[in-house]
Amino acid sequence: MGKEGTPMKETARIEHFFASLHGCNEPYANMVLCHKLMAKDFAEKSGIPVPETIGVLKPVSEDDIRNYDYNSLPDSFVMKGALGRYGQAVTIVTGRRGEDFELAGGRIMTRDTLIEAACSIYNGKWSEWSVPVHNEQWKDIIFFEELLKPHPDTKPYLKCGMSDIRFGMHKLVPFHMLLRLSLEKADGKSNTHYSDSIPPLLTPAGYTTGETLVKPLLGTSETGKTLLGIKWPCYEEALDTAMRVQHAFRVNHCTLDIAITDRGPVFMEGHASTRSYTGADMKVLATRFLRIEKCVHEGRIKSMDDARDVMHDIFVPPYKFDFEEWRNNMWDLGYQIGQKHRQRSH
Ligand SMILES: Nc1ncnc2c1ncn2[C@@H]1O[C@H](COP(=O)(O)OP(=O)(O)O)[C@@H](O)[C@H]1O
Ligand SMILES: [Mg+2]
Repeated sequence: MGKEGTPMKETARIEHFFASLHGCNEPYANMVLCHKLMAKDFAEKSGIPVPETIGVLKPVSEDDIRNYDYNSLPDSFVMKGALGRYGQAVTIVTGRRGEDFELAGGRIMTRDTLIEAACSIYNGKWSEWSVPVHNEQWKDIIFFEELLKPHPDTKPYLKCGMSDIRFGMHKLVPFHMLLRLSLEKADGKSNTHYSDSIPPLLTPAGYTTGETLVKPLLGTSETGKTLLGIKWPCYEEALDTAMRVQHAFRVNHCTLDIAITDRGPVFMEGHASTRSYTGADMKVLATRFLRIEKCVHEGRIKSMDDARDVMHDIFVPPYKFDFEEWRNNMWDLGYQIGQKHRQRSH
């Protein structure tokens, strides 16, 4: 059972619906958005701040990885796979210890272990298989980028690393904002699966809240500060950036991770859709989605300002949710959900 007696079947069906929403985007746009290097390149050309790429390694064999000149990299850097996911392909290096590397959070990684991690990226161990560019022979690309620094006002909440906001976006309207904090125990990564509890969501005005979460809330930061009721630094700018990213990529539906850095919001990565809006009540998200679609249908969203207004409207409770009613409403708007009708081919 889901929370408060919701049959899991319904929650699962909503999750399945959300996971299918990449289908309402142009496939090429999905491919660019989900490929970290292509996405950064495209976003940068659209005037959106991204982490600077400082090296790209396209190996033909593992020997190319062993022979790479790691001394050519700056003392701090982040290693990633272009198709990596869940933080598994990410290594955040904050300094050197002789031949070895110091990670965010203080752990030491030997040079050999870093090379092993790079080989795992190359071999596609962490790659997003659903992305059409995935290729058996070439597998994944390894790249190095600048280490982003946290916004000064977020430092009291962090032992290491930085914070970012994950925006769930539909047709320019943010419908879910999750605050994520780098964790020392995750070597500076903020992916939520490294923690048993979920960091707060953000209200449309940018305040942290535990409302509408269905999983245990992370009420305090690793530094012991309360995380609730705080206006998150740089929120307005991050919201603006998320909208600009979605507009630039021309995708109807996506999730976007916007880092809150010392130089303002930085677009870190995007996904075309997701099944799990970590900890979120899917009934609430389904209701917000329907409300957005109704506004689109009525021609209400003609500008970024309109999209912001709609965001404020869709967050207003109460959320009365009846699955059949929702499904019928969605059907009227052209979305076919569940077993009764085949999933729309998007
Ligand atoms: N350039 C960077 N500087 C500092 N931290 C970073 C940087 N890139 C990623 N991180 C941290 O690592 C996490 C995972 O990186 P990300 O690029 O989102 O990969 P994944 O797709 O595997 O989640 C981010 O959520 C963030 O906390
Ligand atoms: Mg990520």
